[in-house]
Amino acid sequence: MTLPELLERASSLADARGGRAVIGIVGAPGSGKTTLAEALVRELNAVWEAPEESSFAHVPMDGFHLSDAELTRLGLLDRKGAPETFDAYGYAALLARLRIERGHVVYAPGFERVLEQPIAGTVPVFPAAETVITEGNYLLLDRPGWREVRQQCTEVWYCQQDDALRIKRLTERHLRFGKTPETAEAWVREVDERNAELIRATRDRADLVVDLESIAAE
Ligand SMILES: Nc1ncnc2c1ncn2[C@@H]1O[C@H](COP(=O)(O)OP(=O)(O)OP(=O)(O)O)[C@@H](O)[C@H]1O
Ligand SMILES: [Mg+2]
Repeated sequence: MTLPELLERASSLADARGGRAVIGIVGAPGSGKTTLAEALVRELNAVWEAPEESSFAHVPMDGFHLSDAELTRLGLLDRKGAPETFDAYGYAALLARLRIERGHVVYAPGFERVLEQPIAGTVPVFPAAETVITEGNYLLLDRPGWREVRQQCTEVWYCQQDDALRIKRLTERHLRFGKTPETAEAWVREVDERNAELIRATRDRADLVVDLESIAAE
C-alpha cells in the first residue's frame, strides 16, 4: 500500500447514510501510528481552510489513559500503557457517540505527554467531520472493553515497522520527555516491549497491514 492508496481507501469508507466512519490504526508502541494518522488527516483535509470544515478528524486512544491517581488506587502505576491501564469501555462509548452524533461538537480527551495525564475536552470533533481516524495500541485485543472498541471501527489498519528502528525511536522519545537513559531503556524493555508482544499477536485480525518502511521510502 502506498500513501495515495491509503488516502483513497480512507476516503472510500465514508458512510453514505450520514453517520461517521471510524478508521482504527493499531501497532506496537512507537511503530508510527500517530505520525501516520497525522499525515493522513493533513493530506485529506488539505482542501479545507478552517478546522471546523475538515472532513477527517484525528482522535487518539491516548486520551483514555487512566489518571495516575486512579492507577495508584488500582496498584497499576508501574504498568502504565498496559491494556488494563486504559478506560476501554469509555473509549468504545466515545467512538459510538462519534459515529452517530453529528449535530454538535463532540469532545474527546487528549493525553499530555509532559504531565503524562489525560485531559478532558482537548480534541473537538466538528459536525463537518465525516470520518474519524482513531489510533492506539489495543484496538484489536480480544478482551472485554477492547472488543467493544473494535465493534465501533469500520476498519482497523495495522502498522508494521522494523523492530530495531521502532525501539530506537521509542527510547529517543522517552529521553525527549524527561526520562534518564537508564530509565528509558528499562521502561522500553520491561513495559513497552511486553505490550508490543500482545499487540503483535493481534495483527492477523487487521483488515489491512500497512508497511511503514515502504511508505517512509516513498
Ligand atoms: N517517518 C519517520 N521518520 C522519522 N521519525 C519518525 C517517523 N515516523 C515516526 N517517527 C518518530 O518515531 C516516534 C514514534 O512515532 P509515533 O509517535 O508516530 O508512534 P506511535 O505508534 O504513535 O507511538 P505510541 O505507541 O507510543 O503512541 C516519534 O518520536 C516520531 O517522531
Ligand atoms: Mg502515538
